[in-house]
Amino acid sequence: MGSSRSIFFKLRVFEPRDLDSVIYINRTCLPENYPPDFFLMHHREHPEAFLVAELDGEVIGYSMSRVEHGFSNFRRVFAKKGHVISIAVLPRARRMGIATSLMTRTLEALRKYGASEVYLEVRVTNEPAINLYRKMNFEIVRRLVGYYVDGEDAWLMARQLW
Ligand SMILES: CC(C)(COP(=O)(O)OP(=O)(O)OC[C@H]1O[C@@H](n2cnc3c(N)ncnc32)[C@H](O)[C@@H]1OP(=O)(O)O)[C@@H](O)C(=O)NCCC(=O)NCCS
Repeated sequence: MGSSRSIFFKLRVFEPRDLDSVIYINRTCLPENYPPDFFLMHHREHPEAFLVAELDGEVIGYSMSRVEHGFSNFRRVFAKKGHVISIAVLPRARRMGIATSLMTRTLEALRKYGASEVYLEVRVTNEPAINLYRKMNFEIVRRLVGYYVDGEDAWLMARQLW
């Protein structure tokens, strides 16, 4: 259970029965939307890194991540990297610490999968999310020009996992 400002919410791993709720949250909160199979694939491949948050028994947030192999964002070596693919909390449940709890547990799961660092992309105008990631000790690595389909740039943000 996570708690903040006397509101209680529950975190747990995603289950296939949550698919409709997660798709609803994704479409309500973000312009980057995915087909159902995309969510299910992440659940199959990294089940501990796909989390949902429940408030009063209703799924109101999620965080979906995976582990990749590639160049480290910190050293000139290959590394196992966690990648936060998508995170969102419904507007009525925001500013209660839910995304912070989702991210904290995501980082633990990625560590358990052997990742030594984690990265994500965020729109350069998405101040709430940038603040969230900075608070969680992510730093800006570089600007990805024209990263999004509408042409907006992204910040690539990353942090080590130890
Ligand atoms: C970004 C998002 C996930 C944050 O969820 P949340 O549950 O409200 O976040 P938290 O309550 O854990 O907030 C943690 C910190 O993030 C920052 N933050 C969150 N919302 C903010 C806002 N509206 N304005 C400024 N900073 C904000 C603050 O630093 C906050 O800490 P504080 O409340 O102690 O000041 C949520 O706003 C959301 O779903 N946005 C739409 C989807 C999205 O942009 N996802 C990220 C894509 S990269």
